[in-house]
Amino acid sequence: MPMLALGSDHAAFSFKEEIKAHLDEKGIQYKDYGCYSQERTDYPIYGEKVANAVASGECEKGILFCGTGIGISLAANKVPGIRAAVCNDCYSAAMSRRHNDANILALGARVIGIDLAKMIIDIWLNTQFEGGRHAERVALISRIEAKHTRNGKNQ
Ligand code: RB5
Repeated sequence: MPMLALGSDHAAFSFKEEIKAHLDEKGIQYKDYGCYSQERTDYPIYGEKVANAVASGECEKGILFCGTGIGISLAANKVPGIRAAVCNDCYSAAMSRRHNDANILALGARVIGIDLAKMIIDIWLNTQFEGGRHAERVALISRIEAKHTRNGKNQ
């Protein structure tokens, strides 16, 4: 079964705990890359950890949580190969998979309720990339990345 990478800052720590219980119920395997308490910390740390896990192939996909989902997704998107999408609604979640082949989902614990988050996650995990013309566009994104990194790899 594919492994999911999870990460959050303090603002979303309890939220992530509730999502872990949801994933347990569904039998979905995950690795939690922190944080591990409500003690104040910095979201880029966990954005990078989860992004590294996904970019290296250690995990197939990732889900990140912070207050808005924004800061932690911005950090994750700095890692080559990562397409992290903030989706605080179901339509964006489905489209981020169908059209953008997002490999990380980011959610805002201070923006949406836990039940909506569970629904968004279920949709995101069960929606496939459509490929075709969308694959060409995703390849264009990768080309931008390659232009701005050395060998498309972390320095
Ligand atoms: C933490 O206060 C908050 O800034 C963070 O969780 C996130 O919302 C940043 O984008």
